[in-house]
Amino acid sequence: MNALSRHSLMVCSAWLLASGAALAEPEPVALVDQHHCMFCHTRDAPFLAPSFQQIAERYRDKPDAQFMLEHKLRLGGKAHWGDMSMPLPADRGGPLSAEDAHTLVQWVLSQ
Ligand code: HEC
Repeated sequence: MNALSRHSLMVCSAWLLASGAALAEPEPVALVDQHHCMFCHTRDAPFLAPSFQQIAERYRDKPDAQFMLEHKLRLGGKAHWGDMSMPLPADRGGPLSAEDAHTLVQWVLSQ
């Protein structure tokens, strides 16, 4: 890698860091209410479930995490944090569309 491309890489990742903090997604309130996300999660304190900040921390830099988490929110999957897994949409607030799952995961990962 030459000096120029290394420089632009650094500038670019600094920009990503700064904009990541500024671009927290707005909470999709209606969806979050309907699916009772905050019954088990909080933004910043682990309670019945990992906090959304812990989850964001763990997956932020994993490119395939968005897809994996959307899938998991809709169809379930094995637990990643302990023995207790998350209830399926039917036991939370009803079916969850792919679009809504996408919105929710984007919001969680922006915390
Ligand atoms: C009844 C309690 C409960 C509710 C309601 C709930 N969760 Fe969870 N959630 C959990 C538990 C427990 C875990 C940890 C499961 C695991 O180890 O994968 C979890 C994990 C997660 C994860 C990380 C999954 C992983 O694989 O690491 C995400 C993202 C998440 N929840 C988002 C949500 C969203 C968004 C909602 C609302 C649509 C929601 N949760 C509602 C209990 C809940």
